[in-house]
Amino acid sequence: MERLQKYLAACGVASRRAAENLILEGKVTVNGLTVKTLGTKVNPERDTVRYLGKIVRKETNYVYFLLNKPKGYISTVKDERGRKTVLDLLPHISERIFPVGRLDNATEGLLLLTNDGELTQLLLHPKFGINKTYRALVDGIVPKNVLQDLASGIMLEDGLTAPATIEILEYDLQNKRTKLDITISEGRNRQVRRMFEAIKHPVINLKRIRFATLNLKGVARGKFRPLKAQEVSQLKKLANGDAEAFS
Ligand code: URA
Repeated sequence: MERLQKYLAACGVASRRAAENLILEGKVTVNGLTVKTLGTKVNPERDTVRYLGKIVRKETNYVYFLLNKPKGYISTVKDERGRKTVLDLLPHISERIFPVGRLDNATEGLLLLTNDGELTQLLLHPKFGINKTYRALVDGIVPKNVLQDLASGIMLEDGLTAPATIEILEYDLQNKRTKLDITISEGRNRQVRRMFEAIKHPVINLKRIRFATLNLKGVARGKFRPLKAQEVSQLKKLANGDAEAFS
């Protein structure tokens, strides 16, 4: 037996929290009856779960892709306003894949896509603190001590940020810009941009260059590749809190 919201998330319908809202909104039925109680248990072998009338099932054939997202694509599966989405960059795939988290429209770089809802939920769960590294070009020459303070944690409107690692790559004195790598373990909305806005050095350019153990090597902008089996098992180990998978 599995909790309904966990089952919906594992099937890739939505994140666990968003799935709770779908249940509360009466969009989910179990064996034909609308269920609005969180924590209702279902037996996926026996019960028929529907979301907006469509049967919800766990995929049996999991696929995993690493995309080098260009700017100008949004990280959703569909967009009501007809904007380009990251799915437009992949050929038609019969599996119903979705992005693992988000990159802003104007952010480029490494984005995973999969139909494995369970792994997605784990990778995004704050508890596991999966590291993500961003290469940022920011406005102004940011003093080292300011970067140190930023790395130890800064108060944003949604709370104090967890410790980050920042490596200065270049001070461009002529154009008054700083190029750096920042590694964060959280995944709040527009987090890197907001962190630099808070110290009055707004981001000019942002690219995610690493996600957990993965990097962009060999994948040109706008291109993608499937993950190797070994990379998938490493991610699964990480998502289960196995620190050795980092080494
Ligand atoms: N932080 C941001 O500000 N934007 C992203 O797309 C990812 C992290």
